[in-house]
Amino acid sequence: MERFAEKVVLITGASSGIGRATAERLAQEGASLVLADVQEEGLEATAKQCRDIGARVETLRCDVSQASDAEAAVAAAVAHFGGLDVLVNIAGILTLEHTKDTSLETWERVLRVNLTGTFLMCQAALPQLLERGGNIVNTSSTAALAGMPYGAAYGASKGGVLAFTRTLAVEYARQGLRANAICPGSIKTPMTGRSGLPEDPDWKLIQRAMALDEARGPETVAAVIAMVASQDGAHINGESIRMDGGALS
Ligand SMILES: NC(=O)c1ccc[n+]([C@@H]2O[C@H](COP(=O)([O-])OP(=O)(O)OC[C@H]3O[C@@H](n4cnc5c(N)ncnc54)[C@H](O)[C@@H]3O)[C@@H](O)[C@H]2O)c1
Repeated sequence: MERFAEKVVLITGASSGIGRATAERLAQEGASLVLADVQEEGLEATAKQCRDIGARVETLRCDVSQASDAEAAVAAAVAHFGGLDVLVNIAGILTLEHTKDTSLETWERVLRVNLTGTFLMCQAALPQLLERGGNIVNTSSTAALAGMPYGAAYGASKGGVLAFTRTLAVEYARQGLRANAICPGSIKTPMTGRSGLPEDPDWKLIQRAMALDEARGPETVAAVIAMVASQDGAHINGESIRMDGGALS
């Protein structure tokens, strides 16, 4: 399947987890890729895997919370591949702690990367995307749909991503641009592996958001991103797609 032949896709958070799986999936489907992340070692590993598949790939160190980095990522797409068709915002961070213990610094850092970073990337990419009738896929979370204990900043940031995505969809639909969000939960990645819970967590609350059958790998999310971002998703706009093994059904 070559749904992304001749398409240029910029992916943030491409060094790891869902970002890496999405890069590989889109490489298999013929995309030219700009891969962006703060973690350079992982970025090169992802790039190598995509090149081995046959994709044209550019990488750049990019902190999505910095406007100049976001602009540089879009400029790289234009310089190397002549434009941009799809922006996939996957970069994100997770902190888990009791809300009463959450510092203002943590709150602002999580909002800055997850929400402001998504905004900055979209803002930088909009002129190019509008030129080509492109689309945006943002990464929200089930934390935006149901209360996530110990994830105050994270849940707020992901709720913001959902609202922002709908704004983009409505504001630009008549100019040919689509914007959608995915809401994963229970995906096995380094993020879920390392995010420590606070002491004395209430497991009953935590289990509310767990997949009813099993946690799945990031390739399951990548497949949905590929569908939404491709022409197969042409009539999907302003939507959020929950992928959580039935947890919030
Ligand atoms: N794994 C899950 O179950 C799950 C559930 C819901 C939402 N998500 C979301 O999916 C996205 C990917 O998460 P993952 O599970 O693959 O985690 P991950 O930690 O494996 O990947 C996140 C990537 O984002 C990068 N990153 C972090 N801060 C950055 C910044 N400022 N600029 C650029 N890159 C930055 C990291 O270096 C890393 O490569 C995140 O937005 C996360 O919130 C994951």
